[in-house]
Amino acid sequence: MSSTHLTLGIETSCDETAAAVYDPRGGVRSSVLFSQVAIHREFGGVLPEAASRSQLEKISPIVQGALEDAGVRLDEIATVAVTNGPGLPGSLLIGLCFAKAVAWSSERKLVGVDHLEGHIFSPFLDHDVPFPHLCLTASGGHTSLCLVRDFGVYEVIGHTLDDAAGEAFDKVAKLLGLPYPGGPEIERCAQAQNFKDFFDYPRGKHTTLDFSFSGLKTAVLYSLVNRGAYDLKARQLLDTSQGLKEEVASSLLVCVADIFARKLARALEENPDVCAVTFVGGVARNNYIRGVLDVLCQKRGLPFFTPSPQYCTDNAAMIAFVGNYKAQRGEYAPWDLDIEV
Ligand code: KG4
Ligand code: ZN
Repeated sequence: MSSTHLTLGIETSCDETAAAVYDPRGGVRSSVLFSQVAIHREFGGVLPEAASRSQLEKISPIVQGALEDAGVRLDEIATVAVTNGPGLPGSLLIGLCFAKAVAWSSERKLVGVDHLEGHIFSPFLDHDVPFPHLCLTASGGHTSLCLVRDFGVYEVIGHTLDDAAGEAFDKVAKLLGLPYPGGPEIERCAQAQNFKDFFDYPRGKHTTLDFSFSGLKTAVLYSLVNRGAYDLKARQLLDTSQGLKEEVASSLLVCVADIFARKLARALEENPDVCAVTFVGGVARNNYIRGVLDVLCQKRGLPFFTPSPQYCTDNAAMIAFVGNYKAQRGEYAPWDLDIEV
């Protein structure tokens, strides 16, 4: 008969189709994912139409794969947790409709999960993080600082006013003719220059905890124009040498890490009661930024946590984890649950 504690998580907010089974007694039982990176690479970014088409193709085999990997049948699942926002409408709808159909037909409970809440609690998949802590989220769509008081209890104390950090990496990478997604490429290029700062890009003002990355992207563009390396009219990179790409990438990465460190230091000053720091989202895969923030926390005697790499980028394990504690509190969703873009 059904063991009443397993949660099936489904995540389709952007360009990954993901499903996972979470067991509160034993942790992640399975976590499978199809990444559409190869589909979007030729466009240099995510094409929403292509994303939702691919979600539709993959959702069923991916969910079946998660159940198989966990060694469970659908009737052994207690709760179906699904990301219902924020994200691309077409992609979100595929996951939400599929989750409703699965939950309805098998008489399971449905839970809606906020994608960002998934990221915020993703460190718990590998670690026991004490409360209250500060969470820096940096992904392709979001950059924010949160004060996290308990499971599901958090307050956004700073967020980006324009581009997200991952978006800045992706856009600069595109400018440099590097493939999508840009973050890992920028990290590779920066490493080749030993993370030296060649251009000293502007760090911005730090009077609030909000972020702004669109000016940084423009600063990169004009540093190339001033060197005669970029033709603004033709929108074309003239100097395509690897050396130049590496110098820009290295300076950009050092600058972003510095901005994060300054914001975090300020947030810690303003919130002296926090007892740990977490760094989550796709950008948290970056070893250089992890290192900078780790040192900052060590100096203050605070433990620093990041999820393991597969749980930094989008995944369904984090959705199942949040779905599990929401189910334990009886926070189930109605059948007319909608997406929240
Ligand atoms: O969390 P995520 O998978 O998707 C969103 O919710 O947006 O994050 C994707 C972002 C992309 O912008 C990608 O360039 C960035 O994470 N990223 C990285 C690295 N790996 C992925 N950024 C910097 N360094 C990395 N190693
Ligand atoms: Zn995400």
